[in-house]
Amino acid sequence: MSTKKLTDKVALVTGGSRGLGAAIAKRLADDGATVALTYTSSPQKADEVVLAIKAAGGQALALRADSANVEAVKNAVAETVKAFGRIDILVNNAGVGAFALIDEFSLDDFDRLIAVNVKGVFVATQEAVRHMGEGGRIIMIGSVNSDIMPIAGGSVYALTKGAIASFTRGLARDLGPRGITVNNIQPGPIDTDMNPADGTFADRMKSITALQRYGRSEEVADMVSYLASAEASFVTGANLKIDGGFAA
Ligand SMILES: NC(=O)c1ccc[n+]([C@@H]2O[C@H](COP(=O)([O-])OP(=O)(O)OC[C@H]3O[C@@H](n4cnc5c(N)ncnc54)[C@H](OP(=O)(O)O)[C@@H]3O)[C@@H](O)[C@H]2O)c1
Repeated sequence: MSTKKLTDKVALVTGGSRGLGAAIAKRLADDGATVALTYTSSPQKADEVVLAIKAAGGQALALRADSANVEAVKNAVAETVKAFGRIDILVNNAGVGAFALIDEFSLDDFDRLIAVNVKGVFVATQEAVRHMGEGGRIIMIGSVNSDIMPIAGGSVYALTKGAIASFTRGLARDLGPRGITVNNIQPGPIDTDMNPADGTFADRMKSITALQRYGRSEEVADMVSYLASAEASFVTGANLKIDGGFAA
């Protein structure tokens, strides 16, 4: 008999093919959860995550679902339930960035950021909670940028992540009576394709960060693992920074 802390739980991780989402999917599977993950443009990477989970003895499924497409998101939730029977843990991780000064920020980019980072999160959450019972977990991957945006050009990205912080507080009130917790993890700079530790902004980011380095996706996955577990049963409505002291 397995004694892993998420044995018998089913998790859906959006944007699980690369970066934070891939590390989160693997970590939840290590903890014993059965994991469905979505992707848009990286089927091969998504398959690699599924294969790694299966090779370690876990169960996983990759689903193509653009978070900007309402029907695709609804379908991903339905496919997860069809394959695994229910959803206990939803990790709203899929997200995109676009950076430009306000005079130059295109409406197309504005609409895309709202569609993926905000509307996609709303739809996935609304659909998933229909299948979630007592002990359910909604975990957002927001950003420290909802509270601190130290460079110009990030206003719309910060806006979307601020929306997630507010949504988290309100949702915790909606879902508390059902025994479902809702929390928002707010990472600082984490070394991924979106924000590489050797990228254009990297030196500036490190100099602002108390620990003077980028975080690793696995460090964020550790926090997801905690919030997904029974250990975090009294944590809800929280916006939790994991930023190496970026906002200290
Ligand atoms: N890295 C950081 O420093 C940092 C800091 C704070 C917050 N965050 C947040 O953390 C989350 C993950 O970021 P990351 O750094 O891991 O980014 P990443 O390296 O760019 O990976 C993004 C992941 O999301 C998926 N994705 C992108 N657009 C999608 C869409 N429309 N529908 C479904 N999936 C989509 C990608 O899938 P495909 O491979 O199929 O494209 C990929 O798996 C985002 O919400 C981001 O805002 C990141």
